[in-house]
Amino acid sequence: MEEHLTVGRVAELAGVSVRTLHHYDEIGLVRPSARTAGGYRAYSADDVERLREVLAHRRLGFGLREIADLVDDPATDAVARLRRLRGLLLEQRDRAAAMVTAIDKELEARAMGIRTTPEEQLTMFGAQLYDTIGSAYPATRQTEPRIAARVWDALGDARTVLNVGAGTGSYEPPDRDVTAVEPSAVMRAQRPAGAAPCVAAEAESLPFEDGTFDAAMAFSTVHHWRDPIAGLREMRRVARRVVVVTYDASDANWRDRFWLARDYLPEFADLLVGWPSLADLTRAIGGRAEPVLIPWDCADGFFEAYWRRPEAYLEESVRRAVSVWTRVGPEAERRAVDSLRDDLSSGRWAERNRDIVALDTAELGLRLLVA
Ligand SMILES: C[S@@+](CC[C@H](N)C(=O)[O-])C[C@H]1O[C@@H](n2cnc3c(N)ncnc32)[C@H](O)[C@@H]1O
Repeated sequence: MEEHLTVGRVAELAGVSVRTLHHYDEIGLVRPSARTAGGYRAYSADDVERLREVLAHRRLGFGLREIADLVDDPATDAVARLRRLRGLLLEQRDRAAAMVTAIDKELEARAMGIRTTPEEQLTMFGAQLYDTIGSAYPATRQTEPRIAARVWDALGDARTVLNVGAGTGSYEPPDRDVTAVEPSAVMRAQRPAGAAPCVAAEAESLPFEDGTFDAAMAFSTVHHWRDPIAGLREMRRVARRVVVVTYDASDANWRDRFWLARDYLPEFADLLVGWPSLADLTRAIGGRAEPVLIPWDCADGFFEAYWRRPEAYLEESVRRAVSVWTRVGPEAERRAVDSLRDDLSSGRWAERNRDIVALDTAELGLRLLVA
């Protein structure tokens, strides 16, 4: 006969009270499948597995009703649920690590009698964010050759190129003399052997003389800068040509442009509140803006990259390599992913997005600014 554990033993091993276990039984969350001869609750291996899952979600801050939906979800099996739990725990660990780093910095500053500004208190959303999430970056963030070709073409005949917010260097042209600038130590450490030399600095104050470079480039980084206009002016100061790939969040329809943000993650719009208009960004470098279409099979896994491959957003590794998911917080992420999963299995996503599945490229607000 299968071995069972008594309620007292389970409570002791799990570090919860017998009362809690009784309550879970009463509300049908974890029902022990047997009783001892004396009428006490007895838990099988399967019951214990379910309890472990419930307790882990509880420690992550889920409510009991929400947990019941998760553990009873017929669309997932035990392995899928364990994977998901693992992802949530890793994410919580990463967020806690980012907060600890930020608090340590503030404590150091206070010990020296320096009061941190509100901006500094929020720097975990910039370089420190990448010190935390950066290790997940290379899994899906690689050079997209068709977009790289646009950037390299815009660099013209520049021989010396500064790459600002360079990350792991995905868009650095292989045939020029490149210097990289990257504030996150984690990102710098992941630059491949033989990559261009990299300076630890921020766009807003570039440690170079005026006109040092033929060109300065920045790819998918301006939206992380504390002061995008100041950073772009710095690029303009140190280089004769400026090439930037960034987002246009100023046209009237930008919130509805991408189905993921529109239908599942409206919190995305909050991340760009106060973001300068495309006209202001372009004016800071004195240049022009051109749309960059995103191919349906884009090789670089940025937020919009999987616009025609919606299942990809269900993958933890895809989400962890994109800062948006960390910035909106775990609740919004969980809700968006659950709802997308439901819509994919019910056919609702396909129904709503009938018009895009036949497209090979999409205009989702990516812009190439050239000056
Ligand atoms: C999405 S990654 C892009 C990296 C790289 N350009 C690429 O396309 O692979 C954004 C990068 O901007 C960097 N970053 C954040 N704040 C910055 C700042 N103030 N100045 C320069 N880079 C910054 C981050 O550390 C991160 O490496």
